[in-house]
Amino acid sequence: MPASGCRPRGAGTPGRPDAGRHAHPPHGRGGFIGSVAARTLAAAGHDVLALDSLRPDVHGDRTTPELPGDVPLVRADVRDADAVRSALDGRDAVVHLAAKVGLGVGIDDVDDYVSSNDLGTAVLLRAAARSAGGRAPHVVYASSMVVYGEGAYACAEHGPAHPPPREPADLDAGVFDPRCPACGRVLVPGLVTEDAALDPRNVYAATKAHGERLLAAWTRATGATATALRFHNVYGPGMPRDTPYAGVASIFRSEAEHGRAPRVFEDGGQRRDLVHVDDVAQAVLAAVEQPQARGGVEAFNVGSGVVTTIGDVARRIAALLGAPAPVVTGEWRAGDVRHVTASSEKAARVLGWRAEVPVDEGLAELVGVSAR
Ligand code: UD1
Repeated sequence: MPASGCRPRGAGTPGRPDAGRHAHPPHGRGGFIGSVAARTLAAAGHDVLALDSLRPDVHGDRTTPELPGDVPLVRADVRDADAVRSALDGRDAVVHLAAKVGLGVGIDDVDDYVSSNDLGTAVLLRAAARSAGGRAPHVVYASSMVVYGEGAYACAEHGPAHPPPREPADLDAGVFDPRCPACGRVLVPGLVTEDAALDPRNVYAATKAHGERLLAAWTRATGATATALRFHNVYGPGMPRDTPYAGVASIFRSEAEHGRAPRVFEDGGQRRDLVHVDDVAQAVLAAVEQPQARGGVEAFNVGSGVVTTIGDVARRIAALLGAPAPVVTGEWRAGDVRHVTASSEKAARVLGWRAEVPVDEGLAELVGVSAR
C-alpha cells in the first residue's frame, strides 16, 4: 500500500506551475509504483513524505523501503486516521496509491478489498478535508483501466457495442472474445476513452470505480481538485513477485527464471497495454503539478498506447530468459476482462504526458537482461 507526500524545495519546476506542498499515497518496500513516484517527485524538487503499511501479504518480510534517503517513511495503514491526518498536515497534494490490487484469490478477498481500498480512500479523504491550514490538498488517485469493464468494441454490423460479462459456457468452449449483444458476432476491440461509462466487472475494479465516485463527492463537498489516473498494466523493476496479487509480467518472469514455461490463460490473444513504471511516475508528477481547475475529478488514461497480447508478453519473456516456450492453457479466470486498451491522448493533450519506454527495452530490463 503506497502513500507519500511532497512539497517543492525552493522554486517550482521550470516550465511547470509551482505545485506547493504535496503528499502522495503509501508505498511499500517492493515500493513498486510508490517508490518510483516518490523518487521522481523528489528529483523534480518536491518535498516528499511516504506512508505505507508494508503489509506482509504484498511485501513479505522485506521491511526496508526503497526510497531516496531524503524521503521519510511513515509506516502506517491508510485506514489509520490519526497517522494519515498527521502525514497530510500542511501538504498541498496527496498521491493516493494505497490499494490492494489484482483480481484476488476469490470471493473470500472481498471484505479485504473493500476495507483496504474503499475504506482506505474514505479515511484519506476525510483526513484531507480537515488538513491543517484549512485548504484541502489536491488528490491524485490511482485508478485503473479495469473501471471500464470490457472497454470499447464494435460489431461489423451493429457498430459500437458494449458487451455484457462473458458467459462461462463460452469460455469453457474456448470462445474468449465478447459477442455482439444484438447478433452474437464476435466483436472487434478498440481503444476506450475517458468518457466511456464505468462498468467494473470484478471486486477490485468495483473498488477502483467507487474510489472515483467518492473523489467526485469529496471535490464537490470541499471545492478541492482531484485527478484520477487510470493506469494500464504497470510493469518494471520492483514489481511485486510471488504473491497472489502479482501482475502477469512478474508471474511470467518468475516461471521463466526457474526454467519453466510461462502459463498463458485463455488463448493468449487477450489484449493489454504494458506501461513502464517510470512512465507512470512521470504521469503522477504531471498530475501533481497540474491540478485541473474545473472542479470534480478529472480522469486520464495512462497507457503506453501500444497494444500487446498476453501471449506475446509470455513469448518475449521466455525468449529473453532462454526458457521453454509458453504453454497456452485455455484456462480462464472469473472476472477477467478479455481486452482492455485505452487511448491516452487526453493525457498527452492536457498534461503533456506521453509514455516513452519501449516495451522491448522495458521487458529486457524487467528480466535483468539489460539495464535501460
Ligand atoms: C492489471 C493489474 C491491476 C490493474 C490493471 C490495469 C495486477 C495483478 N493487476 O490487471 O491492478 O488495475 O492491470 O489494467 O497487477 N494471465 C495469464 N497467466 C497468468 C496470470 C495472468 O495468462 O499466470 C492473464 C490473465 O488471465 C489476464 C492477463 O494475463 O488476461 C493480465 O492479468 P493481470 O496481470 O492479473 O492483469 P489485469 O487483470 O489486466
